[in-house]
Amino acid sequence: MRVLITGARGMLGSDLSLIIVGEKKHQLVETDIAELPESSRLDITWKEKVNDFIAREKPEVVVNTAGYTDVDGCEKNVELAFSVNSEGVKNLALACLKSQTFLVHLSTDYIFDGRKGMPYCEDDLPNPLSIYGRSKLQGEVYLEQILDHYLLIRTQWLCGRRGKNFIETILNQVRDKKELRVVDDQWGSPTFTRDLSWAIKELIEKGAKGIYHVVNYGYCSWFQFAQKILELNGGQVDLTPIRSAEINRPAPRPPFSVLSTEKLKKNMGIVLPAWQDSLKEYLSKER
Ligand SMILES: NC(=O)c1ccc[n+]([C@@H]2O[C@H](COP(=O)([O-])OP(=O)(O)OC[C@H]3O[C@@H](n4cnc5c(N)ncnc54)[C@H](OP(=O)(O)O)[C@@H]3O)[C@@H](O)[C@H]2O)c1
Repeated sequence: MRVLITGARGMLGSDLSLIIVGEKKHQLVETDIAELPESSRLDITWKEKVNDFIAREKPEVVVNTAGYTDVDGCEKNVELAFSVNSEGVKNLALACLKSQTFLVHLSTDYIFDGRKGMPYCEDDLPNPLSIYGRSKLQGEVYLEQILDHYLLIRTQWLCGRRGKNFIETILNQVRDKKELRVVDDQWGSPTFTRDLSWAIKELIEKGAKGIYHVVNYGYCSWFQFAQKILELNGGQVDLTPIRSAEINRPAPRPPFSVLSTEKLKKNMGIVLPAWQDSLKEYLSKER
């Protein structure tokens, strides 16, 4: 299969590129807004260019991992958030409709308000709390309005070797500080981009359509995640649980936005490793 990835130099896109390249049966077309040669630059907000690029490259599948993912930044840069996370998806969906290309798109738990009190299923009602969540939800709406067939994957708390992630933030802070304060009232599933990339490849190969929640097995609070990182990696630091209200970040976060993976298991037979096992593996490799 010829697979075109947008945002291919990002945290998820870079691991997905490695997984696709590793499979002899697939051909990879990597695109991003920077880092790649000029001929591979594709800004998804440029409607005409998106159209021309897809028409020229003729992929069978486009995977959109591109996004404006700075959740707090979105609160200030509202126009940019909607331009990339909503209009960008619309441009891709229209281009894919025109060229009969299958579109796989990545979305987030932040489309939910986190007040359900139990894991969210694919058909639960969205109610985003932040600009990031609203812009990602509008992207989902465009996808569903424009295309009859698509694959929409919602995920959360991504950890990968490229890009800023919580594990590296904690490890960096341990080096400089004696005390660490981490929120204990937001819950989710740490999800490793290597595991997620493998699942995306499997879902594409199995011809999955519709919405799927894809996260590592199990869930925790950010505080518990930090505890596990320190337990596995060592480090002399006092870890204190705090409430989200104490850190006053620009974008509100959903308190309990754990995503149910029952549908993924039942329909596709896919279960990702427990987050603790993937964390162990992540920490065992040189960074
Ligand atoms: N990170 C998470 O915890 C998380 C959780 C749930 C869902 N997701 C979703 O998963 C997907 C991948 O996330 P990620 O963490 O891998 O994101 P990321 O590391 O920020 O990567 C996104 C990539 O897209 C590029 N990009 C930005 N604007 C673009 C544009 N207009 N056209 C083309 N490319 C553009 C970025 O380039 P620059 O770096 O140069 O801006 C970057 O290379 C996103 O859809 C995100 O919303 C992420």
